[in-house]
Amino acid sequence: MRGVTVASPGAPYEVADDLPKPSPNENQVLVKSLFSGINPVETFMQSSGMMVTGWPVVLGCDASGEVVEVGKGVSKFKIGDHIYGCTRLGVPGYGTFQEYHLMDEKLAFKKPSNVSVEQAATLGVGLLVSFPSSLFFPNHTSKVFLDADAKSSFKTASLGLIAGLGIEYPVAGETSKRDEWLIILGGSGSVGQYATQIASLSGYQVLASCSPSKAQLCTAAGASATFDYKLPLEEQVSTIKSITGGNFIKVFDAGAASYAPAMEMLVKCSNGKKDGAKHFASTDDWSPMSAPERSSINIYRIRLGQIGRYGEGSEQEETCRVLEEAIVPLERLVADGKIKPMEWEIIGHGFKDVASAVKLFDSGKLGGKKALVKVA
Ligand SMILES: NC(=O)c1ccc[n+]([C@@H]2O[C@H](COP(=O)([O-])OP(=O)(O)OC[C@H]3O[C@@H](n4cnc5c(N)ncnc54)[C@H](OP(=O)(O)O)[C@@H]3O)[C@@H](O)[C@H]2O)c1
Repeated sequence: MRGVTVASPGAPYEVADDLPKPSPNENQVLVKSLFSGINPVETFMQSSGMMVTGWPVVLGCDASGEVVEVGKGVSKFKIGDHIYGCTRLGVPGYGTFQEYHLMDEKLAFKKPSNVSVEQAATLGVGLLVSFPSSLFFPNHTSKVFLDADAKSSFKTASLGLIAGLGIEYPVAGETSKRDEWLIILGGSGSVGQYATQIASLSGYQVLASCSPSKAQLCTAAGASATFDYKLPLEEQVSTIKSITGGNFIKVFDAGAASYAPAMEMLVKCSNGKKDGAKHFASTDDWSPMSAPERSSINIYRIRLGQIGRYGEGSEQEETCRVLEEAIVPLERLVADGKIKPMEWEIIGHGFKDVASAVKLFDSGKLGGKKALVKVA
């Protein structure tokens, strides 16, 4: 079959027509790739080779396609269903930049009729990164998202996890507004826009940081207010204070660029609560981080790269379990129209365009729209 491969770390994308067509194992499906979203992780893996388990590799992970074959034990999907989600990252056979790729049944979403195949390609990564964050769901306390180095009073996840999520699940007309702000740094990005939708559906008032030209994207996603992350930090801190009155204990760094400012915001602006605990979650799972002394800040790292890594260790197993459980309410929120797909733009048509589309995405010139490649 056809696709786009990377031969080794740092090698360019190359179109190939002799790739082996994968076969679904138990609880997997084979998907005809229709559209793929582009994410920063593509260039990260292509240039560094990190997270890649075998070469040559086909990249692309934000999937939207049609099920063409089902493996043993699959009950959720049948041939002809439209499917979307985040595939295993860096594992040969799973990349979306090829004609057919594998997906794990329990880690994939079924596309509802109110979402187009293009829109579906915007959803997988953004939703799965945002949703399991303990920031939005205080009862959801998974060690997966807890920095191993950070001291934390949080317990590890128990089997009551999904019930915990259920309590927080925003049902139409029943979501009571919390008298609490949540700060999302990098609110205009793909992760940031979905995180903002989920947080505001969960009742938080969201204050998002972004470039001023993208403020409207944040407010459209549900943010009550925005600020410019390029202003001097003292100015950001005083803006946050005047907007929130210090009534927040949670900061989500959706853009993976704001660990140090976030610590400053939590230490200097947040009034805290009775137990003193404050919470910081980040999509940056590579930089060293530690909470300032005596700050009681819990640090959580998002590790979507562990998706589908069954049998590779207890942390990976735990990630898979958390994500499997997250799929259920998320699928419902999308089908009910409560989570709306973000704006998108097709910037590549076919395999020949993958390399230039990724380059264009990396240039940051797309104005807050999700970049898509039309694969089939
Ligand atoms: N750890 C994981 O499992 C995981 C999973 C998915 C994504 N990620 C990482 O998460 C990050 C965001 O992904 P994405 O898909 O949302 O990317 P994206 O759509 O390109 O968005 C990037 C966002 O970061 C903002 N930003 C850039 N520099 C900033 C700064 N100095 N301070 C605050 N915000 C800043 C941008 O704001 P403006 O455009 O408004 O300037 C934009 O909102 C990426 O680094 C990605 O690699 C990690």
